[in-house]
Amino acid sequence: MSTTPRVSVDGEPVYTPEVARRTAAVLERVRRVVPEMEWPVHAPYVDAIRDWKARRNAVILAHNYQTPEIFYGVADITGDSLALARRAAETDADVIVMAGVHFMAETAKILSPEKTVLIPDLEAGCSLAESITGADVRLLRERYPDAPVVTYVNTSADVKAESDVCCTSANAVEVVESLAARRVIFLPDEYLGRYVASRTTTEIILWKGHCEVHERFTGEEIEVYRKQHTDIAVLAHPECPPDVLAASDFVGSTSGLIRHVEERRPAKVVLITECSMSDNVAVQFPEVEFIRPCNLCPHMKRITLPNILRSLQKMEHRVEIEPEVTARARTAVERMLAVGRGAGR
Ligand code: 13P
Ligand code: SF4
Repeated sequence: MSTTPRVSVDGEPVYTPEVARRTAAVLERVRRVVPEMEWPVHAPYVDAIRDWKARRNAVILAHNYQTPEIFYGVADITGDSLALARRAAETDADVIVMAGVHFMAETAKILSPEKTVLIPDLEAGCSLAESITGADVRLLRERYPDAPVVTYVNTSADVKAESDVCCTSANAVEVVESLAARRVIFLPDEYLGRYVASRTTTEIILWKGHCEVHERFTGEEIEVYRKQHTDIAVLAHPECPPDVLAASDFVGSTSGLIRHVEERRPAKVVLITECSMSDNVAVQFPEVEFIRPCNLCPHMKRITLPNILRSLQKMEHRVEIEPEVTARARTAVERMLAVGRGAGR
């Protein structure tokens, strides 16, 4: 019997008993967060994407904010921005499909310029990446000539190319301290920069970029959760405003938050971050109760099973960066990977 997925007259994969059988293990895994009645919609795509990945010798990288049917159904490599950057540099696949946002696809291309890097929707951007340009960084350098530039990976390749070193939320403090400078320019996330400033004696020069998902959380909201659930553990991402971080029990990158749940196993938890992550973590820890505020990242949500399939079939949209920009951006990303090597926070 053929294992090639069947398609409808308009070329879309269809749900058949074979598809149900081949995807049954994924359904079993995500049952807690994906209603069974939705499975006939997702399963044909999960099945067809697996087939096309093999044909293209492709891997799919998915950020922790991706929806569970992508995260558990088709991704080969999952994690926070730091893990995705590290693993993109290591893979020997010919093609990388980024089930994340554009800056993550660019980081993969910077680290693997010889590979084909695809993003299923070119509009999957990021409010932080859009808050700053390479020209802005050059002006800041003129203004503070003694201060090295530390740039969050949530930026374009052009901005990375103007930077001394990149960081993610998992290693920002460590990267800043590795420079042993009196002061650094920290771009572009103001709130992450303030959080770093609270953990180091290095003076931090800030930029006013914000994540449109995390800036919506408030300290009052946390108080409400605490009143409604007296025993709740509040875990927040450092892209949140300072009053939110001050009201939380733990602050960490997406992987840091997951590790905290794994180690502490709180009975009840609220993750103050993008909302699909709670679904993905709930799959891993069935005994933990997750209260789910739902702040969705509209950019991450542009990536869907149908456009991942189309991306593999048509080999679109290819991420291309000028070789000269790639070379300079790569130096900044590699400096970060060298600082963080082995840290894995
Ligand atoms: P991390 O996964 O690095 O914590 O990043 C969060 C984020 O907002 C990525 O867009
Ligand atoms: Fe950018 Fe925020 Fe979306 Fe992450 S969650 S991609 S920082 S807008």
